[in-house]
Amino acid sequence: MAVAAAAKTTTTSSSTMASSSAPPKMVAVVAVLLALCIISAAGQLDVGYYNKTCPAAEQIVRNETATAIKNSPDLAAALLRLHYHDCFVQGCDASVLLDSTPTNTAEKDSMPNGSLRGFDVVARVKDELEQACPGTVSCADILALMARDAVSLARGPSWPVALGRRDGRTSSAASCGELPPLHADVNLLVEAFAAKGLDVKDLAVLSGAHTLGKAHCPSYADRLYASAGCATPDPALDARYADRLRMRCDSASADGDGGNSSTAAAPASELDPGSCTTFDTSYYRHVAKRRGLLRSDASLLDHRFTRAYVLHAASGRYDGHFFHDFAVSMAKMAAIGVLTGDQGEIRKKCNVVN
Ligand code: HEM
Repeated sequence: MAVAAAAKTTTTSSSTMASSSAPPKMVAVVAVLLALCIISAAGQLDVGYYNKTCPAAEQIVRNETATAIKNSPDLAAALLRLHYHDCFVQGCDASVLLDSTPTNTAEKDSMPNGSLRGFDVVARVKDELEQACPGTVSCADILALMARDAVSLARGPSWPVALGRRDGRTSSAASCGELPPLHADVNLLVEAFAAKGLDVKDLAVLSGAHTLGKAHCPSYADRLYASAGCATPDPALDARYADRLRMRCDSASADGDGGNSSTAAAPASELDPGSCTTFDTSYYRHVAKRRGLLRSDASLLDHRFTRAYVLHAASGRYDGHFFHDFAVSMAKMAAIGVLTGDQGEIRKKCNVVN
């Protein structure tokens, strides 16, 4: 099978793509075991880290996250994205949560982070945890747990989260160049992921996070209209789908950069139309039909491995595999550049250093 052959050319987690269907329960167990292997390879983090110091930590996070998502189902997307934007910039150290100061513009106020949401929910969880176990649970761990819970509450997989991250003391808007650029082609995406220790399979799998949430018009408008840099709308976009998108998104937005502070106020479209609050494989079906909303989604069809993965997941016969793969890749992402031991600090409030 093409996808299995392509999988062999990649490293680490790539070899975990199985070629036959397995009962979901067994797949979930395998995913958990694999995630644990990856976590122990990462070394310093531990699934039972708060067992003695704050045994209720995971339950508190879960309860608050569940309440927030019940009231506002689109928050699952926001919480998942927060963790990704945290880990890709300066490691998973909650630097994305810090406020700017009079002398420093923080990540939060950088262009690619203009439409991040969910900061208030994270702050509520932190307040609860500070009451239960003061000065114990880091904001970086909270982000990792909330991302996991958000996915499972959206009917996706769950996995054990290794804990023990500490919070960074710095945050700089300038570092946000570490996030893959909005207009990157697949080769640049592969490079950006490799720079974080993630392989091409992780790219194909984690892009599946776009099964949740929305993108605002400035993030994709340049694909809909001819512009100075581009004589025609993006030929990689299905023409009828592009027609529909143009109804919500005028050509003025095509001159934007897709990430400035006005992005969040622009009209938005579902990244996975019809199922953007449910974690499933329908995102891949849209991408396979050239209806991936963002350039990064569409570009998955331009690389042998990512294309094979998209078509595999789009078939609808391997949902269990995708869930398993997602758990494994999330565990890898959650270990990027973590601070442990006596590095960093445990913030009292997630938006300011102690
Ligand atoms: C492969 C490179 C990626 C690029 C270029 C990218 C880019 C984007 C952009 C431009 C948006 C829409 C922003 C807006 O218009 O408001 C978005 C939304 C989103 N991204 Fe990504 N992304 C990438 C990977 C990821 C990964 C790895 C994750 C999580 C593991 C993720 C999770 C999300 C989610 C959940 C949303 C929806 C957010 C919401 O509804 O508030 N993305 N992404």
